[in-house]
Amino acid sequence: MRFDDYYMNFAYLSEKWLADYLSRRFSSSQNSDWHEQIEDERRHTLACEAALNLKKVLPIVHDTNFSLQVGLYYKSGLIGDPEHFSEEEVRALCFLVERRALGLYRFYLRHGSDPTYKAVTKAIIKDEMGHSKIHARRTCETYQSLIASERELFSGLTATYGSEGMTSLRFWQDFFADRLELNVHAMA
Ligand SMILES: [Fe+2]
Ligand SMILES: [Fe+2]
Repeated sequence: MRFDDYYMNFAYLSEKWLADYLSRRFSSSQNSDWHEQIEDERRHTLACEAALNLKKVLPIVHDTNFSLQVGLYYKSGLIGDPEHFSEEEVRALCFLVERRALGLYRFYLRHGSDPTYKAVTKAIIKDEMGHSKIHARRTCETYQSLIASERELFSGLTATYGSEGMTSLRFWQDFFADRLELNVHAMA
């Protein structure tokens, strides 16, 4: 597999995790923001999965344990079990996820080589900018320490895998084999 395929599989699983999680938590919420975001994340999931199918990527990983939220944030100890989060904590997680997703998607547009994946990424970025703003507006103090710890997590990955980031095949092979070294101070 190319790094491009690993990247798209990771994007697909991270979008899928978020769509599933938010619809489980907020599908009966009075707040229309959640409904709009759930629809967007569901659409992103389908777009990413369709791109993987179009490229005939095999095998496609469908296990959301290999998402940004579980594979990096939860397994590193950056976040606790999201099933027990308050709405405020979910917002903090969403803010973190949207912010990191924007960074990773922009990184792919600069360094990726697959035109289909780039087109999907570009379409998704517009929505994620909106989501990021919604959660940032409701910012709270805990965001700042969470952001600092999250940066530390990614600095650790850069120290291990080099500054090429997600273009490193070794990184993705380790990630999908569940053998990443993750070091971060635990956050609730
Ligand atoms: Fe999304
Ligand atoms: Fe989003």
